[in-house]
Amino acid sequence: MLFLFKKKSKPKNSDLPVHIGIILDGNGRWAKRRGLPRTAGHSAGAENFRTIANYCRDIGIKYLTVYAFSTENWKRSEEEIYAIWELLRKYLKESIQKMVRDRVKISIMGDIGAIPEDIQELIDETDRLSETFEGIQLNICLNYGGRDEILKAAKEVAADCLAGKIQPEEITDDYFEAKLYSAGVPDPDLIIRPSGELRISNFLLWQSAYSEFYFTKTLWPDFSTKELDSAIADYQKRDRRFGGVKD
Ligand code: FPP
Repeated sequence: MLFLFKKKSKPKNSDLPVHIGIILDGNGRWAKRRGLPRTAGHSAGAENFRTIANYCRDIGIKYLTVYAFSTENWKRSEEEIYAIWELLRKYLKESIQKMVRDRVKISIMGDIGAIPEDIQELIDETDRLSETFEGIQLNICLNYGGRDEILKAAKEVAADCLAGKIQPEEITDDYFEAKLYSAGVPDPDLIIRPSGELRISNFLLWQSAYSEFYFTKTLWPDFSTKELDSAIADYQKRDRRFGGVKD
């Protein structure tokens, strides 16, 4: 008997996005549709982050940045915020055990001074452990806001001017970028927003100037590796001109 297996089409390596950004959205609706508490949606979302991050590592993506907690998410209930911290705590503890083996670098982007102290300590530990790792870099945005990040950078540049370190007319893109949370990370090539919303919601405002976008109605916990393949295939068809013209 002849069995025909459809070969799983992995994204072609040429033109693979170097950096993918994802707005983790739709966890609450995912839970509601199942009659579960919102926190169960975040739990499923965190699990899916692990799956997608492993897949990105396997196919050769160099940077994955996810929007996990925004500067505006403090408006949510204490119970929900507590559940998100608990998931992050668990994720960081498990990652610390695995990161030496996997050479995965984890970096947190955002104003972490306001988050629970023990999580800040876990962040310091992951930074220290993974500083020299060359595998995929996972950036988790926590208490992050694009405007907040730009404002922080502007204040630092203004302070440098006042201190006489630089003159206003000498400030370049590179000088400014070095003050962002994302310093040293290339801009995202592809930004994915699940859950049907068609907006950027204060995510990577400076860095997304020339990013390609992929919007889908799929809720984040259901966003599969197969759909990621489709998003990448879609991206690979785009004609990126960065403001120039085609030859
Ligand atoms: C947005 O969906 C999701 C969040 C604000 C929280 C995302 C956080 C996690 C998945 C946990 C983080 C853990 C790791 C390891 C990255 P929503 O609640 O706004 O969904 P809704 O729009 O359907 O209500």
